[in-house]
Amino acid sequence: MKFADITGWGKCAPPAKLTNEDLSTFLDTDDEWIVSRTGMKERRISHVPVSDLAYVACAHALAAAGKSADDVDLIIFGSCTVDQVVPNAASRVQQLLGADNAACMDLNTACTSGMYGLSVATAMIRTGSVKNALVVGAEVTSVLMDWSNRDVAILFGDGAAAFFLETSDEKAGVVAESLGCYGKNRDILDVTGWGAKYANQGLTLGETQWNFDGQEIFKRAVVGMSRACEKVLEKEGMAKEEIDLVVPHQANLRIIDALAKRMGTGEEKVYINIQRYGNMSAATAPMALVEAIEEGRVAPGANLLMPAFGGGLTWSAHLLRWGSRIAPLGTSEVELPPCDKTGLQLIQDIVAAKKTAGA
Ligand code: COA
Repeated sequence: MKFADITGWGKCAPPAKLTNEDLSTFLDTDDEWIVSRTGMKERRISHVPVSDLAYVACAHALAAAGKSADDVDLIIFGSCTVDQVVPNAASRVQQLLGADNAACMDLNTACTSGMYGLSVATAMIRTGSVKNALVVGAEVTSVLMDWSNRDVAILFGDGAAAFFLETSDEKAGVVAESLGCYGKNRDILDVTGWGAKYANQGLTLGETQWNFDGQEIFKRAVVGMSRACEKVLEKEGMAKEEIDLVVPHQANLRIIDALAKRMGTGEEKVYINIQRYGNMSAATAPMALVEAIEEGRVAPGANLLMPAFGGGLTWSAHLLRWGSRIAPLGTSEVELPPCDKTGLQLIQDIVAAKKTAGA
């Protein structure tokens, strides 16, 4: 039987930071509220389009796998904030990398897009459709945020993280997953002004309004992720004690704590980086895994459990067996252009540009 080992990994965190103090300069909020209710301290704001973040993350993932752009068979771009719908975002990454032999697709399941991307790539490799794939979760939510709404504006940040997967005879990579969606509850996270249906309604595209029931999403996230974790462990016949590290989607530290409590997982077995980035939607869980590897939290042969949830309300849990290598084979010199603005200045630019467009 074939598997799809993850042999390369890379990330791109845009340099401009937006702290809780920055948010409190234009919203009725404060550091104490945000830290105690979410665990977030700062997030990143991108000065470039989402494809550029994805390109940098993919270049690093390819280098870590010791591959060149010509080798890539497939690029999956997981995101709900792609620069353009046509042409798709994966084709932009192909163009920037020069990965001319790759098939290219975008995939949107909101915050779970990077993880669903891993499932699709793994299945296509295991069935022999492709020999390898680059999967990137990337998001620039800042340009589509309603920066006047403190309920949601504090929660999100921008970023990208990517993996290179290749066919393997060893049992490695995603070994099982559980995927689903609470479509009946899709309206509790609903953003107007973001999608083709709004083009005919006299709205300025990108001028969003977030209809968001945080408490309901919170509850369904905890239940959905813990059920998905139980299902995936059962599928693989694995006891939760055999999990070496849980690397969850990072939407709220209290959601992660509640999930860990339900599963009886000690905090030393849960990877958390929400304090640095907030929720980067599709990039979140992939970025957490990349940083867990970089920080030496992932050992060769480790069993990793990755629960996630997002708008839709999609939910997922992936069981990964890490392969034999935890050091990158190479590094890439690809990097973002410098940014001479703070996160706060970038937000002010976004708000001003929307005002001009709507005038
Ligand atoms: N700063 C200060 N006060 C705020 C605030 C902010 N940024 N946002 C809300 N509040 C206020 C509310 O108005 C409310 O005030 P009231 O009691 O006077 O009415 C109070 O704080 C409590 O609000 P509540 O919504 O009950 O807070 P909460 O503990 O449920 O936390 C979330 C809110 C959004 C952080 C939490 O529900 C959550 O994380 N939900 C899921 C996250 C999510 O959906 N992510 C996206 C999908 S992946």
